[in-house]
Amino acid sequence: MNFNNELVHWYQQNKRDLPWRNTTDAYTIWLSEIILQQTRVEQGLPYFNRFLENYPDVGSFAAASEDEILKLWQGLGYYSRGRNMLKTAIMVKEVYDSKFPQNYDQLIKLKGIGEYTAAAIASFSSNEAKAVVDGNVYRVIARYLGIAEPINSTTGKKIFQQTANDLLNKKNPAIHNQAMMELGAIICKPKNPACGICPVRTDCYAFTHNATNSLPVKLNK
Ligand code: ADE
Repeated sequence: MNFNNELVHWYQQNKRDLPWRNTTDAYTIWLSEIILQQTRVEQGLPYFNRFLENYPDVGSFAAASEDEILKLWQGLGYYSRGRNMLKTAIMVKEVYDSKFPQNYDQLIKLKGIGEYTAAAIASFSSNEAKAVVDGNVYRVIARYLGIAEPINSTTGKKIFQQTANDLLNKKNPAIHNQAMMELGAIICKPKNPACGICPVRTDCYAFTHNATNSLPVKLNK
């Protein structure tokens, strides 16, 4: 079987049941992705639930004060994320009549939404064919294909983005993207990856060359 089939099959059997995976609502997905930008899933979960309870849609978020948002944000760090969220919510209310955009080109223009987050929201909410590339995806791709280009060099970033696009399952970008991140999070971990139970190990460069410790390569800048 090929990479995509193995990956998605594994994901469907092994995925964690996370609340933002049971929705295609772009606002809810945005909330989860901003919270998870610099925060671990276990730490982010209660914040995600509290935000969604307090602000069930982008209109109610936009009507909040900055103080209220920052208060709910307390403990998460990187407070600019909270401030940018309020700016974005107000913009979505004013420009998009409180309908959160679902396509990449509109999303990338919003404050606090970079390439990763725009691809995540677009693919999860409307199955747009944009590959997500986060730390998990860098690791999976570098190891699976044996790419030793530094992940934080300009050339490296281009190569990994291009490779992620090539690997993307165009029929189901949403599941593919979730599965890539999940494989990186629970199997292809930075240290002590669980290669013994990895669904794609037989074709994995790093596994077959005993190179998981040396991939991905990251430059000390
Ligand atoms: N980290 C960032 N986005 C995520 C997602 N959608 N699922 C799990 N972990 C994530």
